[in-house]
Amino acid sequence: MNLCTNALQAMEHGGVLEVVLERTDVAQNRRLSHGALVPGDYVRLCVSDTGSGIPPQVLDRMFDPFFTTKGVGEGTGLGLSLVHGIVADLGGAIDVRTIVGQGTMFTIWLPIAGEATVPSADVAAKLPHGEGQTVMIVDDEKALVALAEEMLAKLGYEPIGFSSSVLALDAFRKAPQSFDVVLTDETMPELIGTDLAHEIRLLRPDIPIVLMSGYSGAQLNERARAVGVREILRKPLQSKDIAECLGRVVRSLV
Ligand SMILES: Nc1ncnc2c1ncn2[C@@H]1O[C@H](COP(=O)(O)OP(=O)(O)OP(=O)(O)O)[C@@H](O)[C@H]1O
Ligand SMILES: [Mg+2]
Repeated sequence: MNLCTNALQAMEHGGVLEVVLERTDVAQNRRLSHGALVPGDYVRLCVSDTGSGIPPQVLDRMFDPFFTTKGVGEGTGLGLSLVHGIVADLGGAIDVRTIVGQGTMFTIWLPIAGEATVPSADVAAKLPHGEGQTVMIVDDEKALVALAEEMLAKLGYEPIGFSSSVLALDAFRKAPQSFDVVLTDETMPELIGTDLAHEIRLLRPDIPIVLMSGYSGAQLNERARAVGVREILRKPLQSKDIAECLGRVVRSLV
């Protein structure tokens, strides 16, 4: 998502954004602009644009947290550092090719985990399932709301998604008893997740609230605990983590 947003923002006057995902094998050690590959099977995600290209002084620092060339309010500069963190966690590497004035290509290489021995349907069946409990989902990224709704519906919950925390709070105020659990993102415009949690708990102190966040750290944990958040889920969301977390939370309701 961030790679595509960056690509679009680099093409103010229009251009072509291309996204390619493919499996590929690497036969010998390879050095990339950011990392190295050992032989093996990989998936390769390539996001390219025909935009401004990246000048060397930006190229050197663009993966640093908070480095941005965008105006205040336009970019946090966290996008690429997050991408880098996720890729590194998965044992992958990144390659950046760019020509100023012509465009940029980011390629992300991720090693393929050994072929799953258990078919995924079986794994899904073993995860804790809900029994139609209503879960309020709040995230300013519409695509993530849709994804979470889909995951929760498959797990037997009744998801109700909001892409605005302000509207979510309005809805909660109108019908506090119609929700069983709240799942909210932290970083959102107008009303952040922990503030939303605080307001919701004033209306219904018993409702379990789960916070989702791409970042973690003592400060966030502290803030979450102070407003009575039950658990913190790391983004990107994994079906298994959500299933287990909601399983625990829902068990505590009965
Ligand atoms: N495809 C691209 N073309 C040109 N410059 C890019 C491209 N991708 C990244 N950059 C440069 O790298 C910088 C850092 O990118 P990064 O995604 O980390 O933060 P951001 O896009 O500025 O902010 P945010 O991701 O929070 O919106 C950008 O400000 C931009 O200057
Ligand atoms: Mg970005």
